[in-house]
Amino acid sequence: MTPLTTGEETRDVRRVLEFLNCETPEQWYVAAPDNVNLLLIDHANCEKKAAGTALSLLYRYVDRPELLQICSRLAREELRHFEQVHALIGERGIDYKHISSSRYAAGLRRCVRTTEPERLVDTLLVAAVVEARSCERFLGLCRVLDDELAAFYRRLLASEARHFQQYLSLAQMYATAPFDDKLAELLTIDAQLVLEADEEFRFHSGPVLTLPLTPDAAGKNTPAETVRHVV
Ligand SMILES: [Fe+2]
Ligand SMILES: [Fe+2]
Repeated sequence: MTPLTTGEETRDVRRVLEFLNCETPEQWYVAAPDNVNLLLIDHANCEKKAAGTALSLLYRYVDRPELLQICSRLAREELRHFEQVHALIGERGIDYKHISSSRYAAGLRRCVRTTEPERLVDTLLVAAVVEARSCERFLGLCRVLDDELAAFYRRLLASEARHFQQYLSLAQMYATAPFDDKLAELLTIDAQLVLEADEEFRFHSGPVLTLPLTPDAAGKNTPAETVRHVV
């Protein structure tokens, strides 16, 4: 992994890496430079979804003052990240078009219970896992992408590590029963989704091991964005 620059950054990112069950397979990083357009488009979408998660918590839990303060700041920060990624997309002349979501977030959200306060705690734990995985990917991307993008992802590292910690702290604050088993379940699913072969390259996808036979009607996997065959 790329060496980190400050002691605080090192500590926060190390905590993230210790939290996750596994690191992203090298095949995913090897494919990233050849899929930069998809990576940036999906990253921009992930930032919007992260803001959306924080906003939906703001609407749903108006009786939780700590959550309201933290999630309001989080939503603003995620939208600033979106603006930064979107600016990079524009500067590089990339067509910011609709692409399908990866299976990752939906795979985690399936485990959220429907009764309260379990629904709140599980939603916060899912958000913590997603932030941790994003932080881990940002770190790995620093060593495989061009200088501009490496510097960009390095700048985002600290905030993702902080978001991870904030969501985990909120889960601890609002839990009325131990959540170790739920967290272990989510981390197991995260590892499965990250390690198992995936169909399309995305920010949170697993390694793409086979090429689709034909592009679909929406124009996904056009030659410039075709995922790299890495086996
Ligand atoms: Fe972000
Ligand atoms: Fe974040």
